[in-house]
Amino acid sequence: MEAARASVCVTGAGGFIASSLVKLLLSKGHYAVRGTVRDPGDGKNAHLKALEGAAERLQLCKADLLDYNSVASAVAGCEGVFHVASPVPSGRSSNPEVEVIAPAVTGTTNVLKACYEAKVRRVVVVSSVAAVLSNPNWPKGKVFDEDSWSDEDYCRKNEDWYYLSKTKAEREAFSYAAKTGLDVVTICPSIVIGPLMQSTVNSSSKILLNYFKGDRDTVENRLRNVVDVRDVADALLLTYEKPEASGRYICNSAAIKVSDMINILKNLYPTYPYPKNFIEVEDNFSYSSEKLQKLGWTFRPIEETLRDSVESYRAFGVLN
Ligand SMILES: NC(=O)c1ccc[n+]([C@@H]2O[C@H](COP(=O)([O-])OP(=O)(O)OC[C@H]3O[C@@H](n4cnc5c(N)ncnc54)[C@H](OP(=O)(O)O)[C@@H]3O)[C@@H](O)[C@H]2O)c1
Repeated sequence: MEAARASVCVTGAGGFIASSLVKLLLSKGHYAVRGTVRDPGDGKNAHLKALEGAAERLQLCKADLLDYNSVASAVAGCEGVFHVASPVPSGRSSNPEVEVIAPAVTGTTNVLKACYEAKVRRVVVVSSVAAVLSNPNWPKGKVFDEDSWSDEDYCRKNEDWYYLSKTKAEREAFSYAAKTGLDVVTICPSIVIGPLMQSTVNSSSKILLNYFKGDRDTVENRLRNVVDVRDVADALLLTYEKPEASGRYICNSAAIKVSDMINILKNLYPTYPYPKNFIEVEDNFSYSSEKLQKLGWTFRPIEETLRDSVESYRAFGVLN
């Protein structure tokens, strides 16, 4: 007998992280997934329809985060919602209030209000370490944990609009939860890499892809905090399913120097024109995912993440 189906909604289903989550949810067999996309007919969402189980259990619906009614109809009847959609700019934005901050903040408010109206059991919101790290009051050298919040004035002063958007959105999520009693959990991933499911390259994958371009012989030897996209999907599902999950969770696996990452890549794929020289830098920092690990989260080794990322880049022809 088929297990009872639970309907869940994933916002921005065609994005990098959301696609992995949709795949994971469908693989469980007992979730009926409603994915919101801005344009269901756009070829960049075609990979979702090809997923195993999609024909029976995936419905794509058109919704824009800034259009409350579209969000409300996507969420209606769902028992859980994963709010993943938010702009992740690659470069400088010419109109950050409109392009980045409004969709992140008003978008989150719209999703939460719709969830409250629809009596959704739990909402898992994807925040970011961007909402954790820009905190001038955090003791230098101390590992960042969930107690650290980015300072909005500091983000504004530095024109870190993406950081500001994620900080405001996550604060808004918890303040709405406190006001209404809606069950909200947030996940704060570090730099997310891992296999692409489509040829559209998202902003964080470009950070890794840049090392293959051969346009820089010398790079800063930063400590990069990264996490595999499949492990982020696991974290989202884990925090949805575990009744005891609450508050925010940093989601970071490896802290790795750029030179060490390049060495792993060189061993696996020796022929690419990687950077050759590394400049040591001071401002290295790291994050603790202890809270998430205590909930049962585990993550892949970095070698597997790097190998599977490169294999997907090759398969989609985005390396050259
Ligand atoms: N990648 C990372 O390293 C990382 C790290 C920490 C947190 N995050 C967070 O993870 C989430 C997903 O990021 P990603 O890396 O998967 O990026 P992505 O591939 O660019 O996905 C972003 C998604 O948001 C959707 N979106 C943006 N504005 C929207 C709007 N006004 N209405 C409806 N949908 C909208 C996009 O839809 P379209 O396809 O229609 O544009 C896309 O599906 C974001 O909340 C991001 O802040 C990412």
